Amino acid sequence: MSKRWYQENRRDPWRREARSKGYRARSAYKLKQIQDKFGIIRKGDSVLDVGCHPGGWTQVAVEEVGGDGFVLGVDLLSTSPVEGATIIIGDISKNSTLSYISEILDGKNLNTVISDISPKLTGRYDTDQAISLELSTLVMDTAMLILTPGGNFVTKIFQGTGIEGLMKAAKQRFSNVQRYAPTASRKSSSETYLICQNKLPRPKKDARGKTAYQQVQEHLEEIDVLVKNIETEDAPAVKGFRKLSRKREG
Ligand SMILES: C[S@@+](CC[C@H](N)C(=O)[O-])C[C@H]1O[C@@H](n2cnc3c(N)ncnc32)[C@H](O)[C@@H]1O
Repeated sequence: MSKRWYQENRRDPWRREARSKGYRARSAYKLKQIQDKFGIIRKGDSVLDVGCHPGGWTQVAVEEVGGDGFVLGVDLLSTSPVEGATIIIGDISKNSTLSYISEILDGKNLNTVISDISPKLTGRYDTDQAISLELSTLVMDTAMLILTPGGNFVTKIFQGTGIEGLMKAAKQRFSNVQRYAPTASRKSSSETYLICQNKLPRPKKDARGKTAYQQVQEHLEEIDVLVKNIETEDAPAVKGFRKLSRKREG
């Protein structure tokens, strides 16, 4: 193991704690802290964990739902089995993944959607933050389709442009929405979590007939950040919150 890894590990109490308790990732403690503060998962619940690899959150969710609950994890990457959970490989932005999830749920009420989803980081903060915003928004739209009324939704967000748009979309769909930064997140991290409780039976008036994706896109345009689905003969449509300042466009 590298010297750097050794030093980080020695300094990081959450990593040590996770290893000693058998959690696959230190991020397990972020969900534990969210759960302690907000109680988003109840005994017997059915929970969907989006972006579950390597499985730390899934392990915590299995403990929280207990023997009568159900936990389904999904990730682009293959995840080693977690006892008590069902895990599939899938891209949450694809309709086929949603169909597969619905098939597995087989009419079961889904009480909570948890998501620690994160893109493969490029190291360019603006790009990573834009992709993260898009992913979290897509997960919110997925949650809206399958979460039972009264259900809860948690997603990771990176601080930055457009977050207010996602917060607004969340407040139109859930009765209680807050941001929360667990102390288990690294001090240097710009991540925070959007905690959405009690899904409304239907969205508030301004959001009806719109996806969260459309609303965040509108918000980005309002704050003078261009969001284009560029389609030319050479380049097929590119979907995404790619942000360009209007000033730079010309
Ligand atoms: C920070 S990791 C999750 C860690 C996990 N919560 C744990 O405790 O072990 C973020 C995950 O999001 C996944 N991800 C990114 N984009 C995705 C997508 N479109 N569909 C499904 N999973 C995705 C990544 O593959 C990655 O494994």
